[in-house]
Amino acid sequence: MTQTLSTRITGTGCALPEKILTNAELSTIVDTSDEWITTRTGIKERRVADKATATSDLSTLAARRALEAAELQPADIDLIVVGTCTPDHMFPSVACIVQKNLGAVNAAAFDVSAACSGFIYSLATARALIQSGAHKRAVVLGADILSKITDWTDRSTCVLFGDGAGALVLEAGDKDDTKGPRVLAIDMGADGSGTEILNVPGGGTRHPYSENGSLKEFPPVIHMDGKEVYKHAVTRMVETANRALEKAGKTSADLALLIPHQANLRIIESVGKRMHLAADKIFLNIHKYGNMSAATTIVALDEARREGRLKSGDLVELIAFGAGLTWGAVVIEW
Ligand code: ACO
Repeated sequence: MTQTLSTRITGTGCALPEKILTNAELSTIVDTSDEWITTRTGIKERRVADKATATSDLSTLAARRALEAAELQPADIDLIVVGTCTPDHMFPSVACIVQKNLGAVNAAAFDVSAACSGFIYSLATARALIQSGAHKRAVVLGADILSKITDWTDRSTCVLFGDGAGALVLEAGDKDDTKGPRVLAIDMGADGSGTEILNVPGGGTRHPYSENGSLKEFPPVIHMDGKEVYKHAVTRMVETANRALEKAGKTSADLALLIPHQANLRIIESVGKRMHLAADKIFLNIHKYGNMSAATTIVALDEARREGRLKSGDLVELIAFGAGLTWGAVVIEW
């Protein structure tokens, strides 16, 4: 096997549901207000998938757009990895459905479960498979439809989430490649002792659908202790961001753009402050989309690219944090 040291990003794309749900509309569903949601979270509106749309549908569209940007055909890719915690089915994986939809007949396909950190975990996996020489061209996705596992009577969670999918094409570069957007370093971590503060209690093998009465006691919807999650989110995101930068031989002063997970504006501001970053170096789209789980950072990267926020040579870092607890960061030289 050849050893390939460099992995390049040759295309990005995203797909969002058309339906926009505003804070004003939400306040007709639960006891909340635009003022509460805006001041506590920074969210103004979010996208919500319709009844007919599943995670693989948004993923397929995002993947097609990323392939188009990379000027590749589906048959050119040999790997599809999807970070998601809201698959269409328990099995098969979203990745296999995307493979079929695209006609990516040469690609191995699987999902990665790391909740909001799912995209960075997926990117780390694809990058390692490419660096080992086992695969050459991957489509890596972060995709979630949290609206379908949300309790729409629980105001403490239903105002926070949105739906979306983002994708990138990752290709093997030459050993000495120094051109183009390349992944310089990735850091990942987890703390399984945090499973109780953020989870979906029912619907899995612990409390299956088939168990009589189980769904009432253990509903298949998001349960979150927001305050506890908040505390971990800031600390873990800063730690993983700094570790990834260190692995790349850089510091936060070298960053042209930070793309943090968009769960709460106050979390993002605290992270930015601890990393000594000016506000104009932090990418924000939380006001438009809320927390799209695994889709968040890759949708933001795609938007930043399309808005011309990334110039050749810029150092950009993505950071994520989510259920597990899981966290991760990736440093990219654009
Ligand atoms: N509208 C109006 N009032 C509300 C709402 C709402 N939507 N939600 C809660 N409240 C009320 C509460 O009932 C409480 O009232 P009380 O004081 O009378 O009891 C009050 O507002 C304060 O509630 P808190 O929960 O203390 O509000 P807080 O300031 O902590 O904000 C939030 C809550 C936004 C959830 C915050 O804790 C947070 O962002 N946590 C982190 C979330 C996160 O990072 N998740 C990441 C991963 S998600 C994943 O992996 C799927």
